[in-house]
Amino acid sequence: MTGGVLDSVLACSRVVVVAGSGGVGKTTVSAAMAAQAALDGRRVAVVTIDPAKRLADALGFGAGRPIGNDPVRIPLNGARGELWALMLDTRSTFDALVDRYSPSADQAERIRSNLFYRNISGALSGTQEYMAAEKLYELHGDDRFDLVVVDTPPTRQALDFLSAPARLRRFIDHPLYRIVIAPSSLGLRAVNAVSQPVLRTIARVVGAQALDDALAFFRAFQGLDAGFRQRAHDVDRVLHESTTTYVVVTSAQAEPVAEATYFIDQLESQGVATSLVVANRLMPDFGSPDDVALDVPDPMRENLGELVAERAAEESTLAPLRSRLAETPWIRVELVPELLDERHDTLAAIRRLGSVLGAAD
Ligand SMILES: Nc1ncnc2c1ncn2[C@@H]1O[C@H](COP(=O)(O)OP(=O)(O)OP(=O)(O)O)[C@@H](O)[C@H]1O
Ligand SMILES: [Mg+2]
Repeated sequence: MTGGVLDSVLACSRVVVVAGSGGVGKTTVSAAMAAQAALDGRRVAVVTIDPAKRLADALGFGAGRPIGNDPVRIPLNGARGELWALMLDTRSTFDALVDRYSPSADQAERIRSNLFYRNISGALSGTQEYMAAEKLYELHGDDRFDLVVVDTPPTRQALDFLSAPARLRRFIDHPLYRIVIAPSSLGLRAVNAVSQPVLRTIARVVGAQALDDALAFFRAFQGLDAGFRQRAHDVDRVLHESTTTYVVVTSAQAEPVAEATYFIDQLESQGVATSLVVANRLMPDFGSPDDVALDVPDPMRENLGELVAERAAEESTLAPLRSRLAETPWIRVELVPELLDERHDTLAAIRRLGSVLGAAD
């Protein structure tokens, strides 16, 4: 341990959630923080969602290897701990939940082969966010790991991820859902379900066949809802535990900074503080154009002037967020050449980024 800012955040974390706008480097920073913690002796699982191809290759999800919903060990030379990586597969995570809470294998099979289920389990908006939270919960309770780093989809969906367990609970407790799954107690039969006015309206919108599939699904789902509700409650608890920390990544452009601010505000409204901000992909410090030797040709000098001006512009873009979070640790990360160069070994580049993060104080 080097005793830097990252160390102190990681030392008190069992789960680190990494959030930020699209393309700012969330996945790369997640992998780099995980690698750094593994080098320092932690047993780390990093969960990533759709990594860029190069990173997918580096983390072992490359060509020919199936997408891994289960952790895969990543060899990391000189690590005192362990680095594991997995890529979220929404459908398999949902299937595993259905298996766990189904009273019988038969019922699990009925649900899994239901058309409505097959549609929602992979694609319904919100399902991915919930399953990401579910996966986090599962890894949090897995003895093989003492730290879980979660890479989230871009900001707005990441917030859905935080509220997913509560929404699932609201859905299960919704009166309409209760009518649909409790046909016997309310005298509602599959054949006459569509005679209910509200269901007739839904049938008109989604089609009668789709509604039939949905009703069959909800009936097959009976007996699982209590388990799901309890599970959603447990997942929610982990998301709000004090050992679950939130790291916000931003670049120094206006839109990512606005997104980061929005995310931080939303977190705060849920009583959750941001533990660390990583300002990523910043322009390096080239010094002042006046300091450059006199024999530097003019065109280069002009170019340098532009780079210096860009760095100053970045500073003023970041300034409001910085004063908004005066008490929160920040790490500034300049452009890492190895990450920009496609030909470079990506795992080595991630280690390089990890050491930059680890050295910040
Ligand atoms: N400090 C850095 N210096 C140079 N390049 C970087 C740095 N951080 C990240 N990158 C590069 O920026 C690109 C985007 O990074 P990454 O895929 O991690 O972003 P993301 O926020 O996860 O994107 P998405 O929102 O699409 O998931 C990648 O090519 C990565 O190699
Ligand atoms: Mg990403």
